[in-house]
Amino acid sequence: MIKNCALAAAIVLAGLGGARAADLDPIAVRQAGMALQGGDFAFIRSVVAAKGDVTHVEDAASAIAEWAALIPVLFPKGSETGGDTKAKPEIWSDPDGFKKIAVALGEAATKLAAAAKAGDADAVAADTKLVGQQCGACHKAYRQK
Ligand code: HEC
Repeated sequence: MIKNCALAAAIVLAGLGGARAADLDPIAVRQAGMALQGGDFAFIRSVVAAKGDVTHVEDAASAIAEWAALIPVLFPKGSETGGDTKAKPEIWSDPDGFKKIAVALGEAATKLAAAAKAGDADAVAADTKLVGQQCGACHKAYRQK
């Protein structure tokens, strides 16, 4: 279910191509996507903490991997300020550094999904930690408190 929400957001984004792009508020979209991702990741961590059936986290991990690929395009020029964005100016002054962490998140989440699919609880625990490190690293450098 959680995965379906994140996926729906991704599909909506994909469907809103060029012609409608002007109507799309990137700040609202990225905050909503991050919130969905937060839910997915909380679910994954709760399964790991409870030593539950790790195969159940595969879908949430895959959704995070898909979402990670969208993160860089949701911070276009012109969205530095507005709404209640917590984005730091460093996103635009150091786009490569920002993108690098988004890529690392995608890779960690892809690994996590594979470990979940295989039912490898130890690998899922390690990869969950790795995913969490990417969230933390990016927020520390690129998000205001
Ligand atoms: C590449 C950078 C990057 C990565 C990786 C990243 N985030 Fe974020 N996140 C941000 C930025 C920047 C914001 C602030 C966006 C804004 O306010 O415009 C944010 C905002 C959020 C928010 C607040 C959303 C809201 O409602 O305003 C949550 C929750 C969140 N992130 C969770 C996560 C989780 C969980 C992960 C890891 C699974 C993660 N993020 C990974 C950059 C990142």
